[in-house]
Amino acid sequence: MSDMYTRTEWFRNDRFGMFIHWGLYAIPARGEWVMSKEKMTVDEYRKYFEEFNPTEYNPREWAKLAKEAGMKYVVLTAKHHDGFCLFDSKLTEYKSTNTKIGKDLVKEFVEAVREEGLKVGLYFSLIDWSHKDYPKYGDAFHPMKDNLDYKNEEIDFDRYLKFMHGQVEEIVTNYGKLDILWFDFSYDDMMGEKWKATELIKMVREKQPDVIIDNRLETSGEGFGSMVEEEPSIYSGDFASPEQIIPPQGITNVLGKPVPWELCMTMNNNWGYSSTDFEYKPTYLIIRKLVECVSKNGNMILNVGPDANGRIPYESKKKLREIGEWMSKNKDSIYGCSALNVDKPEWGRYTKKDNKIYAHIFECPIGPLALTGIRGKDIKLMRRLADGSEVKRGESWVTAAYEDIPFATLGEIPHFTYKLPDDRDTVIEITMKEGNDI
Ligand code: GLC
Repeated sequence: MSDMYTRTEWFRNDRFGMFIHWGLYAIPARGEWVMSKEKMTVDEYRKYFEEFNPTEYNPREWAKLAKEAGMKYVVLTAKHHDGFCLFDSKLTEYKSTNTKIGKDLVKEFVEAVREEGLKVGLYFSLIDWSHKDYPKYGDAFHPMKDNLDYKNEEIDFDRYLKFMHGQVEEIVTNYGKLDILWFDFSYDDMMGEKWKATELIKMVREKQPDVIIDNRLETSGEGFGSMVEEEPSIYSGDFASPEQIIPPQGITNVLGKPVPWELCMTMNNNWGYSSTDFEYKPTYLIIRKLVECVSKNGNMILNVGPDANGRIPYESKKKLREIGEWMSKNKDSIYGCSALNVDKPEWGRYTKKDNKIYAHIFECPIGPLALTGIRGKDIKLMRRLADGSEVKRGESWVTAAYEDIPFATLGEIPHFTYKLPDDRDTVIEITMKEGNDI
């Protein structure tokens, strides 16, 4: 019986993925929560269903962009909280095959991602603001949560769960082998067995035994759920899903063992397309945050929000290509890497893989670089990862007082200060002598 560690072996190797939030909300272009934030009724929101016609949809281009960025897996919102299905569900008419585009967008997506040799995942919302049997008045987030017209509404939540489970069964049955199933999200008493999560997970595992699942059948992403307990529940998930924050010390279970986790992060401040959100994170920062995740035994899934035409925004494409340029030369310091269990060096971060330590230099040192936490006598050789150039030891008269710390120089003269070749992140690959536990 495989557990979260065996199931996530590929995931913990690949480290970097693409999240794609796309649906009807790309038309209002005010983020994926617009229906709730603007308290739209199903009828008011339906105008976007009538209009949806993303003629520029090209999932092969999306997959190529992800691959070019060095991403190894891609997850698409098959259905978000508004209830609109990007797949041809037989359980509703509220689906992409009934819009002007008339396509099963998920089918084309999974095929395109696999053709690019990437792992494929689908996001599925446990919440459905369009379903007649989903709780409305008094719910924490429903668009009609404050609408007295719904105060005494009779709903059949079991009927909703039958529908929701049925749609999950459709996506785990009709679209081939899925690598990731990304549920979103639990809140208040809407968690765990309220979703009939045990029954749901047993069905998913029967259809897709190797699929990895996030922890949001139990959490909203704020907490970690029972996956960090000694006895995780059957639906605790295979990875924790911290959102828009990197866990300060990574994530470990109650026994102190690191658990798989993935930061989900937007490039700007919206998951779904926003026509006014230009607060894009600088590329260097995204690179450094990917390094930080890996240095804490975690993954990063970086989001893009395609527009109403089906295009990934120019700014997102530009950043993906910039990240890819760095990854093309430094990928060995990310893929298959994990934390080096020493204190964080003041100039950047370490990652490690087998007998190699990667020094990620974010801040230029004065003179030589102090490789704090590493045993100098165990260093075999050092190379700049991006170009394979030799990096020499940096001990000299200026380091005499710090004899227990090894140093590296970025140039010829150890006590000289040299500009960083790559001020986003210059990586030194440090090969340790065989037989050293690092
Ligand atoms: C939050 C947002 C949701 C988004 C998810 C991504 O749950 O509410 O819109 O899909 O984060 O992690």
